[in-house]
Parts: sequence; C-alpha cells; structure tokens
Amino acid sequence: MGVRVIDLTRSFRKGKGWRPKGPEVTALDGLTLEIPDGEVHGLLGPNGAGKTTLCKILSTILLPSSGTAEVLGYDVVADAHEVRRRIGIVFGGEHGLYWKLSARQNLRYWAALYKLTDAEGDHRASELLARLGLTAKADDLVETFSRGMKQRLHLARGLIGDPKLILFDEPTIGMDPVAAHDFRRLIGELREEGRTILITTHDMDEAEEVCDRVTLIDKGRVIATESPRGLAQMSSLHRWVEAETTADVTHLPGVVAVESRAGFVRIKTDGDASARRVIDFLLDNGVRSVRAVPPTLEDVYLDLIGARGMEV
Ligand SMILES: Nc1ncnc2c1ncn2[C@@H]1O[C@H](COP(=O)(O)OP(=O)(O)O)[C@@H](O)[C@H]1O
Ligand SMILES: [Mg+2]
Repeated sequence: MGVRVIDLTRSFRKGKGWRPKGPEVTALDGLTLEIPDGEVHGLLGPNGAGKTTLCKILSTILLPSSGTAEVLGYDVVADAHEVRRRIGIVFGGEHGLYWKLSARQNLRYWAALYKLTDAEGDHRASELLARLGLTAKADDLVETFSRGMKQRLHLARGLIGDPKLILFDEPTIGMDPVAAHDFRRLIGELREEGRTILITTHDMDEAEEVCDRVTLIDKGRVIATESPRGLAQMSSLHRWVEAETTADVTHLPGVVAVESRAGFVRIKTDGDASARRVIDFLLDNGVRSVRAVPPTLEDVYLDLIGARGMEV
C-alpha cells in the first residue's frame, strides 16, 4: 500500500512563541485514506482544509496528534527514517533551493542527503537536468533562473532520490500553460514508472486529467474518495445538455443556465430528470446532435464544497 492513513488528527494552537496559548485549531479531524501502490491520487479541498498538513505528516515533517499514517508500509513516526529515504517532496513556492549554488550543485547536495554516492548523484543529477530541460543552464546559479526554471528544478529535486512515493503540494501554482502541460506529461511518465503519487491542486482540469482517484477534503475530513468520473456520477445536481440549435429552452423547468454561441447551445440543468426533459423537447422540435454531458470534476467540487473552494 502506498499510503494508509487511519483516523488521523492534527491540531495546532494559534498564537506566537514556541508554546502558543491561543485557541486550538483542528487541521485534520479523523482522516482515513488508502492509496494503493502506483496510483495517482488527487487531494482536493478549499484553503485551510488540511491538505498541506496531511502532506507534511506523510513526509515526516510534522507529527500527528493522534491516529496512524503509513507510507509504503512504514509508520511515519516510528519508521520516519525509512519513510524519508523512499519519498520525494515537491512543495510549491520558491523555498528550498540554494540560490547561490548552480542547479547541478543543488541536485548533488540533495543526492547526498539521500545517501547516494558521488557517482550516483552526478549521474542522477545529469539525467534529471536533461529530463526537465535544464541541461543548458545546469551550471548557472539558481539566482539567475526564471520562475519556470526554478519550478522545474523543484521537480528535479523531488525526483533525485528515485522515490517510490512522491508528494506534490500545489505544484502548478503560478505555472504558465506550457509548463503546466509539461507537468501533466511528467506525471504520466512517473505513473508509467510505477511510482505512487499524491498531488494537491486547485486545478480541477488537471486533477481530472492526471488522477486515477481523488479525495475531496474539507475541515480536515474526507467528503468522498472516488475516480473523477465516479465522482461526477455521484453528483446528479447538474447535468449539461449540448445541442446544435437556436431553439429557446430557457422556459423549460429545471434549466439553470443557457450559454449559446453560433448555433451551438450548452444548457445547464438541475439534474437527470430535467436534462431528460430538455433532450426530449429538443428532439421533439427536430433538433439533431443532442447530447447529455456529465458534470465536470469542477461542477462536482462546486456542488459539494461551494464556490469558496475555488479561491487560491
Ligand atoms: N503551523 C501552524 N500553526 C497553526 N495553525 C496551522 C499551522 N499549519 C496549519 N494550520 C491551520 O490548520 C488548518 C489547515 O491548514 P493547511 O493544512 O495548510 O490547509 P490547506 O493546505 O488545505 O490549505 C488551517 O486552519 C491552518 O490555519
Ligand atoms: Mg496548502
């Protein structure tokens, strides 16, 4: 099993200093989750849901308050050392790179932390620099790097230890579309290599494309774990109907919104029965090429969590 989390809780005390006296905040509230080996698993939820806290506990940076978490069969508290050498971490943002070192020196440094020999470290660093398109800049100082290059170096860093499990926390925040596209391809390659991946993201299209299953969490609790498609089927709140027509459907019961453009119309309905009625109406009126479209992951997410969850 890639990840096994049972009834995990973690609380923090708000306030300043090393022993804050403020109110207690529950970041994880009895969270249970299993991720089989080789799965690409998405962790979705609004800000403050507890995603980063879970990633930190799985990567042994933070201790749980109660409950258990195992990574690749090792307990994150009792066997932290075994966990650390088998995982890679990519936390978004600009931290964690040494700006006064070159890209290659950064990678060699982390290779040493993973206890790779110098020869292995050199070899893996060169391989990853090539894989992430950084070979030409390999020996330049990181402080001269663009944001996109730093992001790619972050990815290389996460892969240097040849990890069986990789934790990505908001990896595509601030990535341009080309970089985000390359990232999706990289995830596909890492899956082919049999690695287990846990990825938190606000990008529903990305989650839908790369994840085998996703877990929706809110307030430190699991709302649902499902394939993106399964999740869409669970939610019958919105069904879209698409058709090539200029017919007016706004008056039909259950029609929530209508978007029409150049003879093509997308109709949002409040559920299966309404969608069926709209389809029947269109077919009765001689419209061809009508199709019902299941909700996207984004629709489902908005149904279950609400619009506040889309803020980054
Ligand atoms: N070091 C900390 N000290 C105090 N509260 C924290 C700390 N880290 C996280 N929290 C709180 O725990 C909750 C979950 O945070 P986090 O795991 O970062 O959520 P997410 O990554 O889903 O946005 C939030 O209410 C946050 O304020
Ligand atoms: Mg976070």
